[in-house]
Amino acid sequence: MKKIIAGNWKFNKELRNKERAREFIEKLEKEIAGIENVEVKVFPHNLVLPYLAGKTKKVKLGAQDLHWTEDGSFTSAQFSACDIVNLGVKQVLIGHSETRFYFGVDEKKVALKLKAALKEGILPIICIGEDIKEKEEGKTKQVLEKQIKEGILPALAEFSAESKPEFLIGYEPIYAIAGFAKLRGKEPKSARIEDIEFAHGTIREVFSRAGYSEVKILYGGSSKPENAKELLSQAFIDGLLVGTASWSLPSFLQMIRIGESLG
Ligand code: PGA
Repeated sequence: MKKIIAGNWKFNKELRNKERAREFIEKLEKEIAGIENVEVKVFPHNLVLPYLAGKTKKVKLGAQDLHWTEDGSFTSAQFSACDIVNLGVKQVLIGHSETRFYFGVDEKKVALKLKAALKEGILPIICIGEDIKEKEEGKTKQVLEKQIKEGILPALAEFSAESKPEFLIGYEPIYAIAGFAKLRGKEPKSARIEDIEFAHGTIREVFSRAGYSEVKILYGGSSKPENAKELLSQAFIDGLLVGTASWSLPSFLQMIRIGESLG
């Protein structure tokens, strides 16, 4: 099955430059023209997303977040779901741990954002994951279950069984995300394969109990060319959500080629 490799440009300064971002995407498009076994996604910063939108063929662009309402007094809000649709963009990240940590996005807001995205037919990648303390206390299962039950299932419940919306899950254990590791003065390290397998199994089990089978899950957290083969070879990992390693074209391309060779 086709694996997904998604690059999250976050707040990378160089890639907030329009010309630099355009050049990156143009080169990426050229390099992946013959790729068949990998679906490539890129989530640029809001400043450059409108500029890149409509200019890609193979690369599927997405927004890094959205606001749940369409209009009103929300200083500094993100794009609304309609804004994203109007740009011709069809996917969005929701609940990324950095939005949870730095901008106070909680389960209630995740549910509101998710509902807004799904109503406009936008494909969401909903990010969940435990922090290091929760992991060490053996609470991974509990945390993931709570995030799914409080942030995701209430929004999905708004849709009838016949019109079940499509979505992707991004499992990103907070301790493995490069930026957070650096905050703690640690060398960023991907989670252990057995821990990812346990988490993905837990996520699938919770969704399956709620009537959603075959949920696709991307892994995120210090994925890079050096560990891409090991991660992408696992049947329980449907793809990678890549932060830091997606900011350099050669390293992002290397990961895509590894995915292609496994197909
Ligand atoms: P990272 O970020 O690859 O830099 O660890 C992943 C993410 O936060 O999506």
